[in-house]
Amino acid sequence: MTRIALVFFSGTGNTAWVVNRLEGRLTELGDAVQIVSCEQVSPLSVDREIARAEVLGVAFPVHASWAPRNLRGYLARLPAARDVPLFVIAVPAIFGGDAAWYAARPLASKGYVPFLYANVFMPNNLYPVPRPDQVPRIVGRAAAKVDRLAPLIHERRRHTEGVHPLGWLGGYLQRWGFAPFEGRLQRYLFAGEACTGCGWCVANCPTGAIEMIEGSIHFRDGCILCTRCFHYCPEHAVQYTRATQNQVHFRRYAGPSGSGGTQEEGT
Ligand SMILES: Cc1cc2nc3c(=O)[nH]c(=O)nc-3n(C[C@H](O)[C@H](O)[C@H](O)COP(=O)(O)O)c2cc1C
Ligand code: SF4
Ligand code: SF4
Repeated sequence: MTRIALVFFSGTGNTAWVVNRLEGRLTELGDAVQIVSCEQVSPLSVDREIARAEVLGVAFPVHASWAPRNLRGYLARLPAARDVPLFVIAVPAIFGGDAAWYAARPLASKGYVPFLYANVFMPNNLYPVPRPDQVPRIVGRAAAKVDRLAPLIHERRRHTEGVHPLGWLGGYLQRWGFAPFEGRLQRYLFAGEACTGCGWCVANCPTGAIEMIEGSIHFRDGCILCTRCFHYCPEHAVQYTRATQNQVHFRRYAGPSGSGGTQEEGT
């Protein structure tokens, strides 16, 4: 039995879904998997769990061929390790590039030893968001991929995706194009007239970037554009520019199981 700590972030539930399926498969193979959401304030028990792990796994949604900023910060705070095997699963929608490899670099320099980089494609939570009837097919393919990866992780077999000139070039160009805007894009988010002031978005924003002041919603610095509030506001009141008020063109994503912002969807 191998003790595996699996650290992840999920904006709209795709990565949470992948992580849960992987945990199930690895458990069937005899491993003991501890899932750690980077949204948990790292309590001592979580730190201990990670420090005791024989293998570390990391999973995240791909944001411009990289991991979201909050997960990057979490990984930067992980303790150094001595030869702890590491696997990294990027969860893109269209193009993962070298995101898994790139996100692992700070860990590799701390003594973790990567043996597997993989992309598991899930539905897009940016645009174009798939139609609800397209989601099961995409999720089905992702399930098959996770089932193929689990034995490789269990046996610590070397497996790399995205670590080739096309992956590096695509990844580099995406990061280079996105970097000047990262951290500034939340200025286009606002809560429209449909907002009831229920507070769901305030309670569920992973970075605490939403504030309610005298009954109205304000978006602050720190937003990582995970799109959770946008897709899962119960009233679909969160808009990204006025254009998204047209919900035929800018459909909201209801998560991998189609049930919206539930616990299962990673919130
Ligand atoms: C800001 C942002 C940037 C994204 N960049 C990419 C990308 O570069 N390549 C890609 O394939 N998908 C990209 N996506 C789509 C997500 O990576 C994809 O839908 C992912 O499965 C979402 O996972 P989550 O539900 O765990 O957050 C992006 C999504 C967002 C919100
Ligand atoms: S979740 Fe939606 S309705 Fe509730 S406070 Fe936020 S924007 Fe308003
Ligand atoms: S403000 Fe919305 S999009 Fe930004 S981090 Fe919070 S939940 Fe995600």
